[in-house]
Parts: sequence; structure tokens; C-alpha cells
Amino acid sequence: IRVDDFDLVIFGATGDLARRKILPGLFRRHAGGQFPEGARIIAAARAELDDEAFRADIRAAIAEFDPGRADAPELPGFLDRLSYVRLDACGEEGWPELAGKMRTGVVQAFYFSVAPGLFGDLAERLARHGIAGPDARIVVEKPFGRDLASARELNQVLARHFDERQIYRIDHYLGKETVQNLMAVRFANILFEPLWNAHYIDHVQITVAETVGVAGRAAYYDHSGAMRDMVQNHLMQLVCLIAMEPPWHFDPDAARDEKLKVIRALEPVAPTDIVRGQYAGDGDEPDYLADVDNPDSRTESFVALKLRIANWRWQGVPFYLRTGKCLRARTSEIAVVFREPPHSIFDTAGQQKPNQLVIRLQPNEGINLKVMIKEPGPGGMRLVQVPLDMSFAEALGPEGAEMPDAYERLIIDVIRGNQTLFMRGDEVEAAWSWADPIISAWEEGSGRPEPYQPGTSGPDEALGLIHRDGRRWRDIK
Ligand code: BG6
Repeated sequence: IRVDDFDLVIFGATGDLARRKILPGLFRRHAGGQFPEGARIIAAARAELDDEAFRADIRAAIAEFDPGRADAPELPGFLDRLSYVRLDACGEEGWPELAGKMRTGVVQAFYFSVAPGLFGDLAERLARHGIAGPDARIVVEKPFGRDLASARELNQVLARHFDERQIYRIDHYLGKETVQNLMAVRFANILFEPLWNAHYIDHVQITVAETVGVAGRAAYYDHSGAMRDMVQNHLMQLVCLIAMEPPWHFDPDAARDEKLKVIRALEPVAPTDIVRGQYAGDGDEPDYLADVDNPDSRTESFVALKLRIANWRWQGVPFYLRTGKCLRARTSEIAVVFREPPHSIFDTAGQQKPNQLVIRLQPNEGINLKVMIKEPGPGGMRLVQVPLDMSFAEALGPEGAEMPDAYERLIIDVIRGNQTLFMRGDEVEAAWSWADPIISAWEEGSGRPEPYQPGTSGPDEALGLIHRDGRRWRDIK
């Protein structure tokens, strides 16, 4: 379905995110026929470029990041939609020119793909030059602050010029098809919801494992770490979608109100319930301290923790979370592990296993429900666990299973004015309120992250975290 005519201004359009994700994503939507005649993309950055040079750069970026489409017949039409303004976020240069390019009567969106330190300057100049109308939309990226105080400050800076309904804070995990699917699985089926509570669920495991290290992003990462980079935002959003109450409607504020309640109900994490790690390889293996070129760094590239949600639904149900770099495999999944039946009528000691619902977020997106059946054969009643396994690719066919990139989906939602998949200011602040004490205890203490071998599942202490409760992590594979 086509969107309305729009002017989308991308500040920082020559930066890595714009070239790698935003513009290739916009191109795919253009090629998918979703843009009307009056869709325009205005790139704004400091580099000395003109329209032609910028278009050439984006042609190169598409060849690099989406090579399959480098020669697509739609590419020239897409490049025609692009124009370039040389502009200084902190100075006056370029602003009148940008003002002159904007149309009225179309959707206006401004993507701040720049360092958060520039948000205030951009917002103020947009207002002063009368560029952003009352319905203009502002898109901002993570990291949204590095603690509660800085997140509040960013919220205040934006609030000086824009209403909350105009602000779109991106957490790209919410744009992933499989993450949105969590809501469909929970709230479009009657099967799961009656069991979705402490009476029937033993625990939940969330794993977001990556094989890449931090080489190439060292400056950012070493200042951030896994807790700020992944847990406070992406993993927190997954926890919310698994744990929230059904919203009364699939509507931005209804859904975000429910997520906020989950974050507010999180218990503080005891120091014994959290493990941080740092990959430490020998010889040719990747090594965190070498990658960031800082032999004293105490920044974590891995976190495992046990979370508790203090409300009626989740009382006593631990959520085990882990994420890290340089692990054995790239895999993200959520496993909901049910309790065992209260009583067994079979004489099958040791054969019973708990039902599990595993939602694979990436790769090989799908759902696997593990159930017990009778092992076929004449030898009496023996039980065996088998998977009811559904992969999107098989169930929906190659076309149906084609997963649009998270950015594509989110940018279209901005143009459509749908904030459901964007974080509200109070949600972000609540997540920082929860994460801050953990991070400050690390920063103030003298401990170091536990070293782990690249290509493993993280430090042994992370295994201990769950083993001592008599449970096991699922394998990372
Ligand atoms: C980003 C983090 O937000 O998410 C990265 O900054 C991480 O460190 C990335 O690699 C993971 O995203 P995805 O979509 O590859 O799971």
C-alpha cells in the first residue's frame, strides 16, 4: 500500500548508518512500489557534495550493502528522488536552503542520524528557520543516552521543540518481523495465553548471541558495553513483549503503556545474579583488549543475568537473559520453558521433559513447540520429546518468508505516523532507571569482567548462574 507524499530529511546522510541501512532500506521500499510520485528524500550533511555526487555515493552504497540490487532497473528512479544540502548542524550554513526545499501539505520527517550531542542544535534550528511544521516527525536512533540523567536531558531537549507524538525513537529490534510476531503469537492465538503465567511457566530464556567482535567500532563500544548496547534496549524490549499484559488494542499508547508496566515491575538485580564477560583469545583469535586497543578496559562484551518481574503474572518465574560478542554462533531466540505435568500416570521415570516454546528470531526464523509423545514401537509406553517445528520459510513459501529489513519497516511507519514500534520517552527512562545501578556498581567497583574464549557460549560463570537453580541454558548453535 502506497504511503502519502513525503519530504524525508536525513541529517548525517553520508554516515555509516545512512549508507548501510537507511538508504538501502528506502530503495527497497521504492522498488517495492510503495512510494508515490511525490516522495522525496533530502540528504543533509557537512560534506562538500552536490546532488550528483551524493547520488553516486548512494549508488555505491547500494552496490556494497545490497549487491543483489545494484543493477535493479528501479535504481535510477530512486536516485532521482534524492537531493543534497550541505549543512552545518551547529552553524547557519545550509539552513535557508533546506527551508527552501521543503513543501507544505506533505508528510515531513527528519531523521537525526547524527551523534546525540547534536540533537539540540538540529531541533533548535529546525524551529528557528520555521522548517518543521506542527505535524513534522523526528526520528532518533539509539543510543538514547548512556544513563538515566543523559536520557532525561535528551528527552527534555527534544520536548522543547516537539510533542511526544512527533518523536520516533528507534529500537531496530522492534522492526524485526519475528519480534513483531511475538505479539501475534501471544494475542492472536487462544492456545498460549491461558498458560502464560507463573502457574504453567517455569522460566524464560532469552539469548542474543553474535559471532562478530567489536573491531571497527571500538571507540563507540568500549565506551558503551553490552549492557548499554544490547540489554537496556533490545533485550529489554523482548522481555516486555513476552511479559506484558494484552493491550486493549494494537495501538501505540496501549502497547507502550503495557510495556512500561513491565519495566517498572522489574526487581533490582542482585550482584550475584549477573555475570559480565570479555572475550579473550590467544594468538590469532580475537581479543577484546586488543580490539579496543586498551589493555585496562573493563567494558563487558557479554552479559548474562537473572531477572525477576514483581507482579501477579510472573511472581517467582526467572527470566534468564544473555547476550555477547564473539560467541559460538549468531542466533537470537526466546525459549519459554513450561512446568512439568503435576502428576505422571506413566511409569516412565526420567523420560518426561518440560514443554518448551522456542521462538527463533534470527536466523532460520520460526517457532518450535516441543511436546511429549509415545515413542513408536511394541515395547510398552515410552515417552519421547519431539518438535512441532515451523520455519517461516517453509510455512509461508520463499516470498512470504522474505523478511523486510527492520529499518524498511520502521521508516514506513514513520511516514504513516504509527508510533507503535517506537519507544516512548518514559519507557526509555524506566529502562535506564533499572540498568543504571548495575552499571554504576561495575564502574565504581574494582572487579573485572570474566574472560571467555571466543567461539564459546561465554564465561563459565554464566553457566553457573542458571545451573545453581537446577536449570540449563539451551545450546547456542
Ligand atoms: C546494535 C548494536 O544495536 O544491534 C550492535 O549496537 C549489535 O552491537 C546489533 O551488533 C545487533 O543487531 P542485529 O540486527 O544484527 O541482531
